[in-house]
Parts: sequence; C-alpha cells; structure tokens
Amino acid sequence: MSAKLILSVTLAVSCILGCWCEFVPTSDKTYYASTEALNWTDAKNACASQGLELVSILNENEKSQLESFLRSNKLVPSDKWSGYWTSGIRYPNGTFIWVSTGTQVGERGHSWLLGEPNHSSSRENCIELKYFLRHIGWNDYFCDEARRYLCQVSRKEVQHGQELDDYSFLSKEDSIKTILRLSY
Ligand SMILES: *[C@@H]1O[C@H](CO)[C@@H](O)[C@H](O)[C@H]1NC(C)=O
Ligand SMILES: *[C@@H]1O[C@H](CO)[C@@H](O)[C@H](O)[C@H]1NC(C)=O
Ligand SMILES: *[C@@H]1O[C@H](CO)[C@@H](O)[C@H](O)[C@H]1NC(C)=O
Repeated sequence: MSAKLILSVTLAVSCILGCWCEFVPTSDKTYYASTEALNWTDAKNACASQGLELVSILNENEKSQLESFLRSNKLVPSDKWSGYWTSGIRYPNGTFIWVSTGTQVGERGHSWLLGEPNHSSSRENCIELKYFLRHIGWNDYFCDEARRYLCQVSRKEVQHGQELDDYSFLSKEDSIKTILRLSY
C-alpha cells in the first residue's frame, strides 16, 4: 500500500471510531478547536452541525478555563493572523453580544485587546479571540474572513437570550446596507 492510501485508510478508520475530524483532538470535553478556517457564519453552522455552539466567554473564570484549554493543547494563537472566531457579534445597534448565550460582551478595557474594538472600515462585526502582548483577548474583525473557531458544549445552564435567526447583516454588502438604512 502507498503511504497516501495508508493515510486515507487511517483517517477513515479514526472517523468511524468517532473522532471529531474537523477538530483538533484534545482531552477536553468542554471546548473544541477547529482545524479548518471558515467565515463566521459557516463557523457558527459548523459548531451547530456537531451539536455544539461557538464559544461565549462570560467572565474571568471562563476566560481562564478557555486559556488553560488553549495552552495545554498548544493552541494559543501564535501571531496576529491566527485568531479564532467566538460567538460574539456587533448588532446593527452597536451592542456586542455572545449569541450562543444571548449575553452582552464586557465593556472596552475588560478583555478587548489594546485599541479594540476599532470597527475598521465600519464592517468589523464579529469577535475573534487573539493573543497580543502576552494577553488573550478580543478583537473585532471582518466576518467574511476565514478563521479557525472555538466551539463549546451547549450551555444549557445559561439563560439563552433572544437570538436572531438571520445573520445576513454580517456579510459585507448587507452590513453596508444596514448602516445606510440606519442613517436615514
Ligand atoms: C441591540 O440589539 C440586540 C439584538 O436585537 C438586543 O439584544 C440589544 O438589547 C440591543 N441593544 C440596545 C442598546 O438596544
Ligand atoms: C483596527 O483593528 C484591526 C484588527 O482588527 C487592525 O488590523 C487595524 O490596524 C486597526 N486599525 C486602526 C486604525 O487602528
Ligand atoms: C461564507 O463562506 C461561504 C462559503 O465560502 C459563502 O458561501 C458565504 O457567502 C460566506 N458568508 C459570509 C457571510 O461571508
């Protein structure tokens, strides 16, 4: 058998055995880090297709749990281009919300990276988790860019807020239209 064939057989067998092929294998059963990079909308759907949801980070305790997960699995973003999508988005009214739990994201200075959120080009509407100056924190970024993403086991204990079903306002053209509509 060729090396390529052996590899594909190995991958097929490990998929049958139930691994999450889209995710980095880790011993943690709470968080999952993707191996692939997708835009925010597709990342949200990819988590949902596994019965998971994009991460929400509600307090310092959850932030350090997630940080330990990233460190112990050597998944800490290594440079400014390698962030991960979270469930955080900016609604057209300007409020940032973790959509997985329907909770508002903490204010500027809490866990936002230095100088963020800066809403660059008025279309950085999704929150990525990045590493900068030895800190893990949030940055607002273009939703249509591909990023790896972090999923969590669905948070049943958290009161889920009102969720919008249609996230089309996050795409480039739609967010510009939304901004125009709001400014009438
Ligand atoms: C902004 O919109 C979101 C989603 O509809 C809503 O949950 C939030 O309360 C709104 N915030 C303000 C300040 O109106
Ligand atoms: C705004 O933040 C982005 C990262 O999302 C960064 O690349 C850009 O340089 C920042 N722009 C300004 C004007 O600081
Ligand atoms: C996300 O990516 C998919 C596949 O490339 C594309 O069809 C879709 O329009 C993108 N969505 C957004 C909001 O960028």
